[in-house]
Amino acid sequence: MKFFIDTANVDEIRDLAATGMLDGVTTNPSLIAQSGRDFFEVLKEICDTVDGPVSGEVTALDAEGMIKEGKTVAKLADNIVVKLPLIWEGLKACSALSAEGIKTNVTLCFSATQALLAAKAGATYISPFVGRLDDIHIDGMELIEDIRTIYDNYDNLETEILVASIRNPNHVKDAALIGADVVTVPPAVLRTLAGHPLTDKGLAAFLADWEKSGQKISS
Ligand code: E4P
Repeated sequence: MKFFIDTANVDEIRDLAATGMLDGVTTNPSLIAQSGRDFFEVLKEICDTVDGPVSGEVTALDAEGMIKEGKTVAKLADNIVVKLPLIWEGLKACSALSAEGIKTNVTLCFSATQALLAAKAGATYISPFVGRLDDIHIDGMELIEDIRTIYDNYDNLETEILVASIRNPNHVKDAALIGADVVTVPPAVLRTLAGHPLTDKGLAAFLADWEKSGQKISS
């Protein structure tokens, strides 16, 4: 499973990319606004920082406008993915951009039929938002299971499932159990994934015993 980071904060991206476990980045208009930086400038810097796909979202609401914006964004770097909202106009733009070989991420997906349409439109990625469904008491992971089943039923549906709106480590675990292709995780959640109190306790005990032994590992 691929790990993307869901942020436009370049310091966070650089820091987590140094782990060697970061496969890509997703942004959205809210995250770009939070960064306080120019859309093109920050996206370009992110693309130069990571080797993997970097999603940048269009803001036009009609297909023609989305295609125009998408083509402009796509020129930024080879690893750009054009993010489009899951509305009919976004699907039209997705078909057109995909036909030109531009990678696409169809976002704001909240139903299995929406995901089916995005795959038929040739989306590279579909982004179902699990956290926002959980927020309204609808099981977000059930949607991931449904999309996995539907995509696996048809050999011609090649869209990757990119689980978005991740709020906690269990979302990551459940997405992996279902066989989602990608998770996009906020930096704070990503940092919690390696932590366990028993790991910290065990390490402290090992190091205390080692100290008492008076030994050193030297080359
Ligand atoms: C995905 O691409 C979105 O940027 C993101 O995951 C939305 O998450 P949120 O629901 O926490 O805002």
